Amino acid sequence: MREIEAKKVYIFSPGLRIWHWVNFLTIITLFITGLYIGNPFFLGPVGVEATYAYKEGITMDFIRKIHFIAGYVLLASFIFRVIISLFNKRDRLLFPAIWRRDYWMGLKEITLKYIFVMKEGEGQEYVRNACARTVYPLVYLAIFVMIATGFAMYGMSSPGSFWSSLLGWILGFLGGEFMVHMWHHWLAWLIIVFAVLHVYLVIREEALKKNGELSSMFSGYKVFEKEPVDLKDVE
Ligand code: HEM
Ligand code: HEM
Repeated sequence: MREIEAKKVYIFSPGLRIWHWVNFLTIITLFITGLYIGNPFFLGPVGVEATYAYKEGITMDFIRKIHFIAGYVLLASFIFRVIISLFNKRDRLLFPAIWRRDYWMGLKEITLKYIFVMKEGEGQEYVRNACARTVYPLVYLAIFVMIATGFAMYGMSSPGSFWSSLLGWILGFLGGEFMVHMWHHWLAWLIIVFAVLHVYLVIREEALKKNGELSSMFSGYKVFEKEPVDLKDVE
């Protein structure tokens, strides 16, 4: 049997883990209710003729309310995420270290590993791989734009309200109400495409390396065969 000296590294703070799962649940809720808002007929035979909808409970009013409540939760958790990153070094792990050689080396290695040209276990180990470091900031940006466009549309139903005064300019900036809807719609799909690939890559890593990748967002720990080259980013 091969002897290895495994190293257990604490990576994700409790705040980050709580944010991750709250974020996941709200985005799924927002996506499903959002699709219904965009096209109420996607529920097929469950769709009820408008006159009788109130009696049945599944009304556009109700679905929109769920969307807005989840929107407020997403906003609160995003603010929470920004605040915790000010205090904890680990919570700033997501930025790509483009000025460092190990980032570029890592990007090459992870690409070769993802297309199964290079074997897992070869090359360097990373606490957070370069591909993840490149994509996560874009995911945060996409969530931020969803919040901004979402609350800009929300403000439209009550002109003069807090949200319409704060974010009303977004309507003009993106070329009108229709375009704000479109951006909100396209980015919703982009986030879901990310989520599907993200889950695949997490499960792939767990299956090939059995390093606690899948459970790391619950426990906070991952296990490494070699010392990760970017260890100083979390310790
Ligand atoms: C809407 C769905 C999801 C979104 C938007 C999302 C987003 C993210 C983001 C932004 C991070 C980086 C956190 C940071 O360090 O700042 C992350 C990490 C992680 N997520 Fe998710 N996630 C989603 C769903 C899931 C699901 C369903 C799983 C479990 C199968 C999962 C497992 C993980 C794990 C294990 C990590 C750490 C991976 C690493 O070190 O790179 N995520 N996720
Ligand atoms: C990642 C998070 C989110 C997702 C996936 C999402 C998804 C969607 C989708 C797919 C639509 C339908 C767009 C269309 O085809 O016209 C929609 C509409 C809308 N969303 Fe979101 N949304 C998110 C966040 C938010 C937030 C934070 C708010 C703020 C309250 C918000 C407010 C709205 C509003 C006001 C509408 C239009 C409702 C209407 O026309 O009656 N969304 N959303």
